[in-house]
Amino acid sequence: MKTSSYATARMLGTWQEGAGPAHQRLSDRLRLLVLDGRLSLGTALPSERDLAAVLGISRTTVGAAYRTLVEDGYLATRARARATVRLPDDAPPEEVTRAGAGTDPAVIDLSIAAPPAPVEILHAAFATALEQLPRHLEKHGYDRYGTAELREAVARWYERRGLPTAPDHVLITNGAQHAVALLARALLSPRDRVLIEHPTYPHAIKAFTEARARLLPVSVVPSGWDVEQFLAAGRAARLAYLIPDFHNPTGSCMPTAVRCGLRLDCPAVVDETLTDLALDGGPGPEPFAVHTPMPGPTVICVGSVSKSIWGGLRIGWIRAVPSLLKRIEQIRPATDLGTPVVEQLATAVLLNGGQTRRSGGLARLAAQREALREALGEHLPEVHAPRPAGGVTLWATFPEPLSSRLAAVAPDHGVVIAAGPRFGVGGAFERNIRLPYTLPADQLAEGVRRLARAAQALGHGSTGTHTPAPIA
Ligand SMILES: Cc1ncc(COP(=O)(O)O)c(C=O)c1O
Repeated sequence: MKTSSYATARMLGTWQEGAGPAHQRLSDRLRLLVLDGRLSLGTALPSERDLAAVLGISRTTVGAAYRTLVEDGYLATRARARATVRLPDDAPPEEVTRAGAGTDPAVIDLSIAAPPAPVEILHAAFATALEQLPRHLEKHGYDRYGTAELREAVARWYERRGLPTAPDHVLITNGAQHAVALLARALLSPRDRVLIEHPTYPHAIKAFTEARARLLPVSVVPSGWDVEQFLAAGRAARLAYLIPDFHNPTGSCMPTAVRCGLRLDCPAVVDETLTDLALDGGPGPEPFAVHTPMPGPTVICVGSVSKSIWGGLRIGWIRAVPSLLKRIEQIRPATDLGTPVVEQLATAVLLNGGQTRRSGGLARLAAQREALREALGEHLPEVHAPRPAGGVTLWATFPEPLSSRLAAVAPDHGVVIAAGPRFGVGGAFERNIRLPYTLPADQLAEGVRRLARAAQALGHGSTGTHTPAPIA
């Protein structure tokens, strides 16, 4: 895969800002793009001459930056070929870096948007699951559709939300991300266009680019979903990917009028991972698919208990017509052969017990949302962060485009964040960061205090050398 000089320049964004020689700032920013996955491994970079021309700098500067990256192991060169992106042999894999951030109590991790588990409720569900397990032990345990218990529980969860669903319209996956990746593989061919909200969930972007699709981003900031723009893009797309309920990262919830108007020409994967996290009371948003007349454009629903119960369960699902589920069942063995049975049984217990909408858990999240906004008001008053009606994140906007630099220096100040451009394409969202409110209030306040110190340090020219944090 090649990246053009224009695409690279867009991704580089505001690399010129900060102290130090230009070649160092350029190599630092390119390294950040490699490490946070915006420049994929194996990508051929533009020639020194082309990149220099587009950036309006000397070829010597680009050459020096590329040489640093070669020396550090981030670029491979061959005679008469473009330099390609690689990782140094001894580079810490993302998971190792993440474990470091997660286990070092001194570091506050604001890159992961996922609440801790409800311990006692989870214990009780697993105890019941173990009692039910014997009835599965005589079978082989490989079930690519999922257990009958969980498929029924998911169907009832939809019915309670007002969407009639039969268990054979449900296929269980290892989380919502697995569901999106399976759908991308089942529904897309190379060069197909996928309509995405912009910004959107970064791992969905990865799933679609992995399927070699082309992305068709349509803005959802600052005013939300513009029906006309989405309908126009839907005419050019093979598939749409939407997060209508407490959208990640903005937290916005699609208004009913928009849901009714979004009769896209292409099928839509509707990711409802956050739907149970309405924080201001009330029943939460109605399922997007309720507004889809049948027959008509296809709505394929994706769900998960990762945010409403616990990400460590690794349980999600797809709701679709049986013919599509059959296709998915057939392609699934290329990557996995089914979802662990005990986790499925425990999740069925949790869903049947209505544990995805626990009032205590929702009240805690709502209080943390306020604590985060208060801390921002106190320590970073220049930041604009609207209050979402649900979900787990604020989408914060700085007056300056400093997001990637801030993400790079933040670990020096004991806090880890995900830079805004990871939620988009083409280097967009350099003024944004996503801030989850899934940590206790005191940690959120301290995290923001540290972030304010990091932002202040940027004014003094620090560029940072840290690897970016993984996101969820
Ligand atoms: C919109 C959205 N989809 C999918 C996922 C991944 O969910 P899971 O942990 O179930 O794979 C997330 C996690 O943050 C998300 O926000």
